Amino acid sequence: MLRRLHADQPDTFAFTPDNMAWAEGQITKYPEGRQASAIIPLLWRAQEQEGWLSKPAIETVADMLGLSYIRALEVATFYFMFQLQPVGKIAHIQVCGTTSCMICGAEDLVAVCKDKIAAHAHELSADGNFSWEEVECLGSCSNAPMAQIGKDYYEDLTADRMGEIIDELAAGKVPVPGPQNGRYAAEPLKGLTSLKEYDSGRTQYNASAQLAVDIGDTVKRIDGSEVPLTTPWQKRANKASPPKDAGKKADRMRGASSDKSAAVQGSDAVAKGKPATGSVTGDKPELLSEARDGTPDDLKKISGVGPKLEKVLNDIGVYHFDQIASWTPEEVTWADQNLVGFKGRVSRDNWVAQAVKLAAES
Ligand code: FES
Repeated sequence: MLRRLHADQPDTFAFTPDNMAWAEGQITKYPEGRQASAIIPLLWRAQEQEGWLSKPAIETVADMLGLSYIRALEVATFYFMFQLQPVGKIAHIQVCGTTSCMICGAEDLVAVCKDKIAAHAHELSADGNFSWEEVECLGSCSNAPMAQIGKDYYEDLTADRMGEIIDELAAGKVPVPGPQNGRYAAEPLKGLTSLKEYDSGRTQYNASAQLAVDIGDTVKRIDGSEVPLTTPWQKRANKASPPKDAGKKADRMRGASSDKSAAVQGSDAVAKGKPATGSVTGDKPELLSEARDGTPDDLKKISGVGPKLEKVLNDIGVYHFDQIASWTPEEVTWADQNLVGFKGRVSRDNWVAQAVKLAAES
C-alpha cells in the first residue's frame, strides 16, 4: 500500500500549549544529541491532537527535533499507526483482518463499515464523522473478531453488534470496550475452568475495559489538559501557561512557522529596543538587520538547526557563525528563552562551541 501525504493539507499546525509543554518534556528524556529519538511520541501526540498527521504537523515536529523534513516524513510514512489522511471526527475504526479474526467474521465487520461508513478504507463517511480501515493482527486473537476504535478494543464482535456500536457512537455514546458477547475477558465461552477463586473479587469489567471506562478517552482528541503527566526529572508538572494566555501562546507558536513578526516572543518589542516580553533573564545579543555582504552563513551546519529554525534565526537578525560564537552566557540565556518553539536549544546543543568551530573554518 502506498503511503503518501494527503492531497488536501492545512496551512499550519500548532500543538496546543499543554501538548507543547508535554512534547518539550518528552524531548528532555533523551541524552544530549539524541533528541531526534523523540520523534515517534511527538508525531503520535500530534495525531492524538488532530486525529491525523498533516504535512505541517510532520514539519513542525521535525523542526522541534532539528531534523530535516525527509527524516520525519520517512518515519511518518513507514509506520501504519500514523494516519496520513483525515479521519472521522467521531471515530476511526480499525478492523483486524488477520487470520483469527478473518476466520471468525472480520469480513462481515468490514462489510458493515463499507455499508455504514464509506465504500473504501480511509474514506470519510458522508457526514465526516467516521472512517475505517483494515489492519493487521492487534494481538487480541482469542477474542476474534475485533476492532480498535479510537484507543480501545471492541472484541467478540458480530456484524450486528458492530453496526450498533457505530450507531451508538454517532449518537454521542461511547460503548463499553472489551468483549461484546458477555465474556469477561478471554476465558472459555462456557465460563472459567480454573482460578475460579479469584472470580468474586473482580472489577465490573476486565482490567483493560475497566481502565478504558475510568479514563473515558476512547474516542477523545487529546489537547494535553486532560493528561496530568509529569516530567519528574524536570521537577515540574507538564502543564503549560494559564488558560488566559493559551490563545496568545498558541498564536505565537503557530506564527513561528510562517510569521516573521512572531518568530521570537516579543520580537516587536525587541525591534523597538524594549525588553522582550518572553525574556525573563539574559541579555539580548547584537542582532543584524541583514546578512553582511548579503551572504548569510549556512546556519544549518549547526547540529540541531533545521531550515525552519534557521529562518527563525535570520528573522531576528542572526545570520553568521561569528555572531553566535561571540554570545556570552547571558546572551545564550536570552536566546534560549526567546526562540519560540525552540526554547533551550542554544545551550542544549551547545551552539556557541559549534559556532566557534564553524566560524574558524569559514
Ligand atoms: S488476528 Fe485479529 S487480533 Fe489477532
